[in-house]
Amino acid sequence: MKIDVSTYMKSFLDSTLVEKYQNRKDEVFQKLDSVYMNGWCQPDLSFVDDIFKVRDQILKHSKCLVVVGIGGSFLGSRAFYELFTPYFKKRDFSIIFAGTTLSSHYMKELIEYLEEVDFSLNIISKSGTTMETSLTYQAIKKVMEKKYTKDEMKKHIIITTDPVRGALRQEVNEEGYYSFSIPDNIGGRYSLLTAAHLFPLSFCINIRLLIEGYLCGLQRREEAFSYAVVRRVMFDLGKVVENFVSYENNWYYYLEWLKQLFGESEGKDGKGVFPVSMIHTRDLHSLGQFIQEGNKIIFETFFKIKHSFSYSIEGCDLHSINLLVEDSVMSAHYRGGVPLVVIELEEVSLKVMGEVSAMFMLVAAFSGYLFDINPFDQPGVEVYKREVKARLEQAN
Ligand code: PA5
Repeated sequence: MKIDVSTYMKSFLDSTLVEKYQNRKDEVFQKLDSVYMNGWCQPDLSFVDDIFKVRDQILKHSKCLVVVGIGGSFLGSRAFYELFTPYFKKRDFSIIFAGTTLSSHYMKELIEYLEEVDFSLNIISKSGTTMETSLTYQAIKKVMEKKYTKDEMKKHIIITTDPVRGALRQEVNEEGYYSFSIPDNIGGRYSLLTAAHLFPLSFCINIRLLIEGYLCGLQRREEAFSYAVVRRVMFDLGKVVENFVSYENNWYYYLEWLKQLFGESEGKDGKGVFPVSMIHTRDLHSLGQFIQEGNKIIFETFFKIKHSFSYSIEGCDLHSINLLVEDSVMSAHYRGGVPLVVIELEEVSLKVMGEVSAMFMLVAAFSGYLFDINPFDQPGVEVYKREVKARLEQAN
């Protein structure tokens, strides 16, 4: 992985501002090293063997795993699932991600579908109180109660939650369901290397490669900090929106994961860079116009993948054309007044993406500290939840 914060950025950067933030490096590193919520920086992986044991049990009787979770208990596994499973080829064992909506239309179809399938259920919620997750879990459990005996349910339900607290942990203790923990010192959006994501992913990828890459990514502190400095300087220069861009369709959820990581980590106290994303070349035919000639509040981060699948059309290598378009767009945007960071990857492999992901978590944490906010809480999310609770109580 190469992070280029110079080629398409240098003429925009203000050296005094860069120096001002660079000088905060020791303080920022020290903050991360001493904060309680840094469990993701030295992940305890002692649960990984258990993941395989439970997975093998599930594969004996189920054709499908329904993964119920939202936000940081969902986006990491969904992102890696989309990146590393085929677009079209049907798999013998399928994974369904649910729990991200209150749509009755979706729920009705999901429940009708599950009535016909042999499935297991993995509910993931650190707090155990998230509304979307809880309602979906209750609805699916009703289907299971009709299909399976109480003893069979124990072989079909896996609960991933807080190690000691909450209603879900209590359910594990009372019912004897399989369970995994999300450590107390790891927040949802930093939980990629916990069972919240590694368990569902163990059904479709080699999670050991992802782990290997992630551990390498944690070593990239210096580059992560330089990138965080550039983001911070961009903000001071009025570039308050960061557009993450990929030229691969199956990156959609990976970019969603990035948006959540930065949005919830940084958007506090009236501060933060607003993260958006685009998939090219599709979005060049919609939002591309705005980026090129619209309000200059945007800077971009482009992912450039050196090697991809070999596929030729009329003697031309398609990936080379994709890269040529990417280079042209970067150059055009830069000349149009849009600075950009380029993250060049040799290939999209589990190891590389594990490494990129850990590096981005460092960038999010460092960026938060450079804004003098706490990158590990999300008090704003609670505001709408309180409003919903009050209205529900009034309605009942
Ligand atoms: O990053 C976070 O902490 C949040 O996005 C949570 O993951 C999300 O709100 C889901 O919370 P929970 O796992 O408690 O259901």
